[in-house]
Amino acid sequence: MSENQVNADPLKLPSNFGMLEDPDGHARITGPCGDTMEYWLWIKENRITKVSFTTDGCGSSIVSGSMAAQLAEGKNLKEASQLQQEDVLKALGGLPEASRHCALLAANTLKAAVANFNDRMKKESDINAEIEI
Ligand code: FES
Repeated sequence: MSENQVNADPLKLPSNFGMLEDPDGHARITGPCGDTMEYWLWIKENRITKVSFTTDGCGSSIVSGSMAAQLAEGKNLKEASQLQQEDVLKALGGLPEASRHCALLAANTLKAAVANFNDRMKKESDINAEIEI
């Protein structure tokens, strides 16, 4: 795929598009362009077992969101939290200059969902520590 092509069929959403029930991690971010991306994670034993996303954005945001989800699935939390815009762009074979920010929104939202899981775990351990006192 050349850097000016976007591999998105507007009539067919990727299979990882949509919500997950009872997510372990979740985040929603609206980027400066006004588009919103949202991720849901299932996590087991420090590893992301399932990722889904939605966006109200353009085709580039759909392919970016889907690719970031695919890149994160199966990774441990540390690996997933290191996902960068460039990783998404590289895996996609590039995006047009005007759409590169879609990959940034995807990577940032996915990392925010991992951070959300870590926050939940910390709060849970804080609560358990309080109960033990
Ligand atoms: S144009 Fe904003 S995420 Fe694609």
